[in-house]
Amino acid sequence: MGFIHLEQVTKMFNGSSRPAVENLNLEIEKGEIVTLLGPSGCGKTTTLRMIAGFEQPTEGIIRIDNRIVQDSRISLPPEKRGVGMVFQDYALFPHLNIEKNVMFGLNKWSSRKKKQRAIEVLDLVGLADYGKRYPHELSGGQQQRVALARALAPYPDVVLMDEPFSNLDAGLREKMRYDVTSILRKANTTAVIVTHDQKDAFAVSDRIVVMNEGVIQQVSTPKDLYRCPKNCFVAQFVGKTNLLDGTLCQDLKHVNTHIGRVCLPERMEKHLDHVKVSIRPEGCRLAEEGRYFGTVERVIYSGEYQEVSVRLPSQSETDVPMVIYVPIEQDIQVGQTVAFDISPELVALVE
Ligand SMILES: Nc1ncnc2c1ncn2[C@@H]1O[C@H](COP(=O)(O)OP(=O)(O)OP(=O)(O)O)[C@@H](O)[C@H]1O
Ligand SMILES: [Mg+2]
Repeated sequence: MGFIHLEQVTKMFNGSSRPAVENLNLEIEKGEIVTLLGPSGCGKTTTLRMIAGFEQPTEGIIRIDNRIVQDSRISLPPEKRGVGMVFQDYALFPHLNIEKNVMFGLNKWSSRKKKQRAIEVLDLVGLADYGKRYPHELSGGQQQRVALARALAPYPDVVLMDEPFSNLDAGLREKMRYDVTSILRKANTTAVIVTHDQKDAFAVSDRIVVMNEGVIQQVSTPKDLYRCPKNCFVAQFVGKTNLLDGTLCQDLKHVNTHIGRVCLPERMEKHLDHVKVSIRPEGCRLAEEGRYFGTVERVIYSGEYQEVSVRLPSQSETDVPMVIYVPIEQDIQVGQTVAFDISPELVALVE
C-alpha cells in the first residue's frame, strides 16, 4: 500500500448538487512528488484539504503511513497527521519575524531546540541570514521559501502545497520550481502539490494526477501523460493537440481520418470501429515530400516556435484546421502551401 492512500473518497458540500470530489482512489509512494492538476473548480484544493484534515470527506478512507487518519469514525486533526501545509498565500504572520514564523508549529519543543531547528530549515531553503527580518521585508519567492521552511520544521512525513507558484512572476517561478523540488528531495519528504499550470506540474512531478469535475482522469508520469493521454480531456488540457475522428484500419496500426491515413505508435490489440486520435502539433514536421499538405491559414509566434494552422484540401470549412509547430527560423507565410509528416510517437488513440 502507498504511503498516502485515498480510497473511494467523496466530498459533497452542504447545499451543492454534485460532489466536489467523487470516488477518488490514489496511492502515493514515500518520497514521491505528486501534483494534482486540473482546471479551476475541479476539486484540487478540496482533495488537499481532506488529506491535511481541514476538510472531512463525506465518504471514504484516507491513510498516511499505514495509519487511518480518516474514515467514517476516525478523523484525526491536522496536527496529528504528520503533514505540513503551505497555503497559496503563504499565510506568514506579519507581526512575527522569519525565525518566529518558522518556530510557530514547534510549540511543544524547548526554546533551544526550536531555535536550532529554525536555523537548520532556514539554511535548507537558502535563507540562513534572514531570520530576523519580517515577512514584508522579503520578496515573494523568499516568503514562499519561508512558508516551506515552516512546513518542514516539525519533520512532517508529508508536505502539502496549494498553488505554490501562482504568486510569482515567470522568471522567479521557474527558479522556485527548481528550488522547491530540490528542497523537498533533500528533506526526503513526500509531497502533494496543487496546480492548474501544466508547466509547474511537468517541472516538479514524479507523477501527475489530472482531475476534472471532481474525478481523476489519468495518473501518469509527465512523459506518459503527454505522449499517451487517455482521453480527450487530458489530451486537450495537457498541451495542445489535434483531435480527429476516424476508423481503425484492418492492420490495427493505422487510422483513416479526414486528413488521410495516420500511423499509430503501435499496433492495437483489437479492432474498434470508431476511434479518436490525438496528434500533437510537435509531432507534425514540415517536409518537402511530406505525406500531408495544405494551405497556411494562420501563424502565431510563441517565441519558442511558430504555431501554424494548416487547412488540408480534404477539410471542409467547418473542420478545425490542423495545428503544427514549426521552428522559428523557418519562414512561413499565410496562404502558402506546406507539406508535413506526422511522427507516430506523438499520435495516441484517446477515449
Ligand atoms: N466550503 C465550500 N462550500 C461549498 N462548496 C465548496 C467549498 N469549497 C469548495 N467548494 C466547491 O467545490 C468545488 C471544488 O473546489 P476546489 O476549491 O477544490 O477547486 P480547485 O480545483 O482547487 O479550483 P481552483 O483552481 O480554482 O483553486 C467547486 O465547485 C467549489 O465551488
Ligand atoms: Mg484551489
